Amino acid sequence: GTHAANGNGLADQEQAPRLGTHGKPLYTNLAGIPISDDNNSVTVGDVGALIFEDVHMFEKQAHFNRERVPERVVHAKGAGAHGYFEVTKDVSDLCKAKLFSEVGKRTPVFGRFSTVTGESGYPDTARDPRGFSLKFYTEDGNWDMVGNNTPVFFVRDALKFPDFIHSQKRNPQTHMKDPNAYWDFLSLVPESLHQVLITFSPRGVPDGFRHMNGYGSHTFKWINAEGQAHWVKFHFKSDQGIKNLTHEQAIKIAGINPDYAIEDLFQNIKNGNYPSWTFFVQVMPLEDALNYKWDPFDLTKVWPQKDYPLREVGNLVLNRNPTNYFAEVEQSSFSPAHMVPGIEPSPDRVLQARLFTYDDTARHRIGTNYLQIPINRCPFRVQTYTSDGPMNVTENGGSRPNYYPNSFEDLPHPDPATPDVTPYKHPEGMVGRYMPQKWKDQDDYDQPRMLWQLLSNDDQEQMVNNIAGHILGAQEFIVKRQLEIFSKCDEGLATHVEAAIKKKKENPEPYSMVA
Ligand code: HEM
Repeated sequence: GTHAANGNGLADQEQAPRLGTHGKPLYTNLAGIPISDDNNSVTVGDVGALIFEDVHMFEKQAHFNRERVPERVVHAKGAGAHGYFEVTKDVSDLCKAKLFSEVGKRTPVFGRFSTVTGESGYPDTARDPRGFSLKFYTEDGNWDMVGNNTPVFFVRDALKFPDFIHSQKRNPQTHMKDPNAYWDFLSLVPESLHQVLITFSPRGVPDGFRHMNGYGSHTFKWINAEGQAHWVKFHFKSDQGIKNLTHEQAIKIAGINPDYAIEDLFQNIKNGNYPSWTFFVQVMPLEDALNYKWDPFDLTKVWPQKDYPLREVGNLVLNRNPTNYFAEVEQSSFSPAHMVPGIEPSPDRVLQARLFTYDDTARHRIGTNYLQIPINRCPFRVQTYTSDGPMNVTENGGSRPNYYPNSFEDLPHPDPATPDVTPYKHPEGMVGRYMPQKWKDQDDYDQPRMLWQLLSNDDQEQMVNNIAGHILGAQEFIVKRQLEIFSKCDEGLATHVEAAIKKKKENPEPYSMVA
């Protein structure tokens, strides 16, 4: 099942390198035809013009012209590594997914960590959330856990995501990052405050990818073998501990070594210092959801651990670097829609939209058959009637029927015992564009206030300076609006930021273009 046939009836002869008469491996073109000279183009005489007969030269140029795939529209800069997940605690009472079936069970994993709004060459030490993606190659298919290093997010309805990202990326005219757009959007969307405070706190710039936690952020549903469901949240706690960079360290490293985080991960794995994370879940009984103080499907809120404590599940270890960045990291593609039996979504509006967007963008970025690329391919057999499409490199179902239902017992059949949607009661309602009553009633400021009050004086001061250094690039009326949001959270936060802006304006940071 794993070996791709050529479609020409010939087996691949990959094992033995083809040797030239020089006894060394032979250089061939892409059709496997020997190359005799890779330094001199074919010309008419030694000073004459090139001729079309130089098939190798044209092939080499033409392929080079097509080397790039589009970078990810967000999370373009990243690092990846292979490893495994090992179950350390029995959670079969909560989840029937085969990867959790017994203590000690190991499942291969590929992980990718990223910054969000910078391009693929952007400095790793940007003040930005970090992506935390894991692909578990389980017997029931690939489970992707596509999370961030923070448990909350800027918006609670994905309809606002493209606007949010536009405001964080480059200005349509100047092609520069635009603090004005950044704070214009955020100050009009107060639900963002919780994530904003985390981003500008000392945790806003992790010291490399090894020293940060990962969170599924959304609420998910776990189903056990009896069909019982629980709401869960995923936490991957760094066994290296949390370490962060100050603003001053981050901007210095951005100049000296923009690939700081990629290098840190690669070198530590290369040296056998394997990073690991302990996987915990928070568990909420289904019936709590309606009555809990906060909407448990609101991505701007956490479940405080005093209400829903962490329960240990297992250990994630990354112990092998990619051998080829493009093949394994750039072509890797993660999707929240890749869930295995036992893991299902919650009604979180952002999660629901993400179930569509990732596979859609993958088809655009790396092609319709992106799930056939080795890093994305399920190592257990994929048995489907879906077929054809550009760059199909499997046996594509061979000669068997490519439709279902069919009359053949030896062909793939759906198994009602492995539901992807465990039946659940959906409150009936009118279709429409609603803001939930709970969101209207609730306070956007209570959890941010809890966060602010939890910080040490030093951390508060760092946060205030980080915000001031950024927001002073925005127009006066936008700053004013954001200060009002800060003051609803905590009067001290607002007055300190205001004072810090004033101070920074009088004494601007060197090389800052902000007027
Ligand atoms: C990447 C959309 C929110 C985590 C992406 C990509 C898209 C996208 C289109 C590029 C994927 C690719 O090219 O392979 C969205 C939308 C969101 C959203 C529409 C709605 C608000 C989130 C949230 C999280 C998250 C809340 C974390 C909890 C990630 C990660 C990646 C990513 C980790 C990088 C995946 C990788 O390493 O390849 N997102 N995103 N996103 N997103 Fe989101």
